[in-house]
Amino acid sequence: MSDQKKLFIRTYGCQMNVYDSERMAEALGADGYIETDTPDDADMILLNTCHIREKAAEKVYSELGRFKGLKADKPDLKIGVAGCVAQAEGQEIMRRQPLVDLVVGPQTYHRLPQMMAQVAKGEKAMDTDFPEEDKFEHLPGRHGAKKAMRNPSAFLTVQEGCDKFCAFCVVPYTRGAEVSRPVDRILREAHDLVERGVREITLLGQNVNAYHGAGEGGDWSLARLIWALDTIDGLERIRFTTSHPNDMNDDLIEAHGTCAKLMPYLHLPVQSGSDKILKRMNRSHTADSYLRLIERIREARPDILLSGDFIVGFPEEDDQDFEDTMSLIREVNYGQAYSFKYSTRPGTPAAERALVDDAVATDRLHRLQALLTDQQRSIQQSMVGKEVGVLFEKKGRLDGQMVGKSDHLHAVHVHAPDGQVGELRRVKIVESSTNSLAGELVV
Ligand code: SAH
Ligand code: SF4
Ligand code: F3S
Repeated sequence: MSDQKKLFIRTYGCQMNVYDSERMAEALGADGYIETDTPDDADMILLNTCHIREKAAEKVYSELGRFKGLKADKPDLKIGVAGCVAQAEGQEIMRRQPLVDLVVGPQTYHRLPQMMAQVAKGEKAMDTDFPEEDKFEHLPGRHGAKKAMRNPSAFLTVQEGCDKFCAFCVVPYTRGAEVSRPVDRILREAHDLVERGVREITLLGQNVNAYHGAGEGGDWSLARLIWALDTIDGLERIRFTTSHPNDMNDDLIEAHGTCAKLMPYLHLPVQSGSDKILKRMNRSHTADSYLRLIERIREARPDILLSGDFIVGFPEEDDQDFEDTMSLIREVNYGQAYSFKYSTRPGTPAAERALVDDAVATDRLHRLQALLTDQQRSIQQSMVGKEVGVLFEKKGRLDGQMVGKSDHLHAVHVHAPDGQVGELRRVKIVESSTNSLAGELVV
């Protein structure tokens, strides 16, 4: 079709943004756009941005600068900024970068087609509202999601926003208040995905375990939603992320022990192991309550792989506070982790406080990462000799090789000449290298 235009989306930040990018591509797909893998031949470039740390936000401006040449060669090229930087700094983006045509926040992207009509007339469009209506109700169905269809593993956002207001975090401001999507819409979307070949669904939310969407008989918990998904034929695996320690309810812990489709992996960020710092972060849990929670989760599912997030150098963190974080890490033994140096975010309560010396914070980050890397390696190494399920996601680089994720979310390379994308096979792990495992089919 001659009027088909090409859309290039680049995604930064968390899985929620990955999901949003898919949905934006679908919304623009209904408007005649098809996706392309390079900005060079695009008619529309959309950056889906992240505001969580200063570096992430600044990257947007340098990235936009790089499109200057493209726009000079192709004056009709449209450039848009979406996501959390758009929400937080929309006006500033429009002012600092005149080549931007469109700014859209995370809660208004269902209005993209109307905004594009405005842009097509040569006007600028900006929408960073927190609208009354549910954007998901105004988006096209999932059948247009060509890109997602190539992958048997899909994301499904079930809850958005955050009411926790951790003292360092922009999410409650960029995503707005916590909202859970209704059960029937989620189940319908899950069925659509499975019909299109999806075998694994990861339920998403900034506080996904606080999910309390309207369903039959009242509000449903995340565990109840998981049990409903469990009955969908063809759906083999269920995961969820990100969880908050305070919302880890008994029924969810129990599901980890009893629901076979729920994978043995849990991302449960703690941020710090010091009660003084946790209090100043407004986390409303202690190091000890977190450790006791981990104990209960491990009782329900002994082989669960735990993952976490850590911030080092939070204002007024002293050596002892940092050592407390190191002890907590030693006690938990993480199979996966993300760690960051504290970054001051404008408008957050912690921005008022005295910073830790940067060299000290950097040194702490290196020590903490070395410990976490050691733990990750030895947990990965301990998989050798074990049998796991692997969901094949794509062909590997070697002939006859398939690549996929294990139950514990490790990347696994498998020699499987008859292997097909979307198959879930039993695999015996034979080797562990830096970032992945190697395995053989169990026949
Ligand atoms: N909702 C999730 C996390 C969202 S942000 C949760 O509550 O766990 C992802 C991670 O980024 C956080 O867990 C935190 O470790 C990190 N982060 C958030 N704000 C930060 C900041 N100002 N500086 C450094 N890291 C930050
Ligand atoms: Fe941010 Fe805290 Fe909410 Fe997570 S729980 S999104 S860290 S405010
Ligand atoms: Fe970033 Fe927004 Fe996600 S700030 S981490 S893209 S919710």
